[in-house]
Amino acid sequence: MNLLNGKTAIVTGAGSGMGKATAQLFAKQGANVIFADLHLDAAKEAANSTNLETVIAIQADVTSDGAVANLVNQTLEAYDRLDIVINCAGVPQSFTSIEELTLEQWDLIMNVNTKSIFLTSKYAVPIMKKQKGGSIVNIASIAGIRARPGLNAYCASKGAALMLTKALAIELAPFKIRVNAINPGPADTPMIGKFLVGDAAQKEEGMKKIFQDSVPLGTLIQPEDIAQGALYLASDLAKIVTGEVLNIDGGRGI
Ligand SMILES: NC(=O)c1ccc[n+]([C@@H]2O[C@H](COP(=O)([O-])OP(=O)(O)OC[C@H]3O[C@@H](n4cnc5c(N)ncnc54)[C@H](O)[C@@H]3O)[C@@H](O)[C@H]2O)c1
Repeated sequence: MNLLNGKTAIVTGAGSGMGKATAQLFAKQGANVIFADLHLDAAKEAANSTNLETVIAIQADVTSDGAVANLVNQTLEAYDRLDIVINCAGVPQSFTSIEELTLEQWDLIMNVNTKSIFLTSKYAVPIMKKQKGGSIVNIASIAGIRARPGLNAYCASKGAALMLTKALAIELAPFKIRVNAINPGPADTPMIGKFLVGDAAQKEEGMKKIFQDSVPLGTLIQPEDIAQGALYLASDLAKIVTGEVLNIDGGRGI
């Protein structure tokens, strides 16, 4: 079944983890896919491994107004339309008390995890309005609804991403542009090691176990689990769903 035939999708953070799995699944499901990432080599490798000619890798810093404008322009030049944006690029926070958190750390986390959604929407929405429809999916986090000590900026950035999702959903509903979010729980991607500091971070298996034990279903979330949820929300299967938040977290958010 090709759920995304005829669609064009931008996936940010497509060089690694959930973004990579999502972009690859979308390409298999018939979409033209732009693999966007800060790291071009990683995006290219992820795109090339699909062995499909309907994919392009583009270097883009999602915190930069000019880079995001360029990303959307290049998408239009290549495929002449834009139906789906998956905001998956993100940065973690290693446990830091509020008095030790620097302004630079705060700004980076807020810019990559939240401002990026503003920027991609700013440039994608005018095209979606002209096309009379579209779907935006923001990859937030269970940390956006369930605070943990030392993750102050990260939790704030994801909480803001969730409220921005709802604000855009209500603003854009008259234009048939749907905006939804996914809250992943602890996932088996390169990011997970970066949430901890000290000895635990050195011992990857021990660290994975700590997170695994925090998931009621007893396993880490796989990038493909997130990709499947993003496919549902981006496709016409969810044509009447907007402003929703799907926890894909093994019960972590309960
Ligand atoms: N891994 C987890 O446990 C977990 C849990 C909940 C939510 N999340 C969220 O899921 C999303 C994906 O995380 P992941 O685990 O796949 O991480 P990852 O580190 O594997 O991938 C993140 C990607 O984002 C890219 N990126 C970072 N800054 C960027 C920028 N300024 N511009 C463009 N690209 C940039 C990186 O290069 C990388 O390829 C993130 O938003 C993350 O916050 C992750």
